[in-house]
Amino acid sequence: MKKILLTIAATLVAELIVFLIIVGTGLSGALYNVSTLSPDPGFLRWIFSSTSGNSVKYRANGIKVPSLTDSSMIAEGFDHYNDMCVTCHAGPGLEKSEAGLGLYPQAPNLARSAKQLPPQYLFWVIKNGIKSTGMPGFAKTHSDSKIWAMVAFLEKMKNMTPQDYAAMEKANTSMGNMNMNMKMSHHEH
Ligand code: HEC
Repeated sequence: MKKILLTIAATLVAELIVFLIIVGTGLSGALYNVSTLSPDPGFLRWIFSSTSGNSVKYRANGIKVPSLTDSSMIAEGFDHYNDMCVTCHAGPGLEKSEAGLGLYPQAPNLARSAKQLPPQYLFWVIKNGIKSTGMPGFAKTHSDSKIWAMVAFLEKMKNMTPQDYAAMEKANTSMGNMNMNMKMSHHEH
């Protein structure tokens, strides 16, 4: 029994040494291509994406969800989404930007896929981001209440048509213009 364990331990140490030599000598550069044009083999993709999904689920578990139905909250979330997320995630009737199209892994089209994701999950991902993908964490620049506003909008976007989205954009710009006019008329006084 002891002999078997010792053999296993020695094999593991030998494998670790081979692994370190591969990484240290630069042989790993020949074995793994970091190009976004070279998709990962299926089993690697499976390891990355299932680990990532499980990690988010584990950490999002137990987050308390506030009420997400307030219309000014949804409008604030729309503003953030339209400014910061469309580039990579597209939107109802909107295409990704050129930078967004160049990502690997690709950002999912949230107008379609956010349907399956619970609000705790959305909140955690937006706040923390996902390492080694294009998904930024917004905790450094946005308060929890701003992030919940984005979640409130995503919940709404699940059922939005391109026309609904365009109408929100229009309402938003006219609000923006109103604010500007108010500021300008303030100046004249
Ligand atoms: C620079 C590109 C980029 C920007 C900007 C970006 N994302 Fe992402 N996002 C990604 C990528 C890439 C992924 C997929 C990561 C992966 O494969 O694990 C992702 C994943 C997500 C997910 C998880 C989806 C899922 O199916 O698990 C959510 C939710 C999300 N983003 C929301 C947002 C929101 C909201 C914004 C704006 C506040 C945003 N993202 C801005 C690139 C981006």
